[in-house]
Amino acid sequence: MRTGIFITGTDTGVGKTIASAGLILALKARGLNVGYMKPIETGCPVLDGEVVAQDTRFIREVCGIRDDLDLMCPYRLKAAAAPSIASRLEDIHVDLSFIVDQYFQLSLLHEVVVVEGVGGLMVPLNNSEVVTDLILQLGLETVVVAKPGLGTINHTLLTVNMAKMMGIAVTGVVINGFGKEAIGLPERTNPDEIQHFGNVPVLGILPWMKDLDYQACKAPSLLSEFMERVDVNTMLPRDDEQGY
Ligand SMILES: Nc1ncnc2c1ncn2[C@@H]1O[C@H](COP(=O)(O)OP(=O)(O)O)[C@@H](O)[C@H]1O
Ligand SMILES: [Mg+2]
Repeated sequence: MRTGIFITGTDTGVGKTIASAGLILALKARGLNVGYMKPIETGCPVLDGEVVAQDTRFIREVCGIRDDLDLMCPYRLKAAAAPSIASRLEDIHVDLSFIVDQYFQLSLLHEVVVVEGVGGLMVPLNNSEVVTDLILQLGLETVVVAKPGLGTINHTLLTVNMAKMMGIAVTGVVINGFGKEAIGLPERTNPDEIQHFGNVPVLGILPWMKDLDYQACKAPSLLSEFMERVDVNTMLPRDDEQGY
């Protein structure tokens, strides 16, 4: 088995990185050799003269992945903006075939590669391509990470339906951050509505973890919470999947 899974979200900040880390830890706990790729990261601060891709740094530290940074995150852009804009400011062209090439290199090193998207599905990557184009070129299925509360049904169904319309298979939805806000009627009923109207499984509900510290790269309860609450089996890339 040499393949991957693409983690997208309904928005930026919904928990793609946290869900990616949880999935990697859970797959590693099963003995699989897992890699991570964040093809394009924007909003990278410059620290001691180095452009730091923070999601990639978090995953490297929390999941113990040590691949070459240029393979894990080939485009590290400074401006906190969509990749099309951030890359233009630095006079860089985001080339999807280069990303596919880097992904192929990573897939030779690992049994599974978890690829984290940028923002949501319609985020522009260059002058003519958006995230769905990247997913299609990588030939991967996608998991959609969504918020728990009011408004998430609409955002999740928009994302799921757009993926399907573009010909991208949706493995399922992971709801992240349950309990950060008060748990009311929407939080309790959203998963069923999403499953019913989206015709996709909700693979799990990940709680808000008070001990998680993104800046310090600490997530002590992530592995146990992920294994207990998320259906990892369904997220395991299958041999019959297209791609590499
Ligand atoms: N389940 C969670 N428990 C605790 N903190 C979380 C959780 N999910 C997200 N966060 C916090 O919210 C931030 C945004 O989540 P992140 O995974 O980085 O979003 P995305 O990758 O979609 O932009 C994280 O950096 C972390 O600080
Ligand atoms: Mg992220």
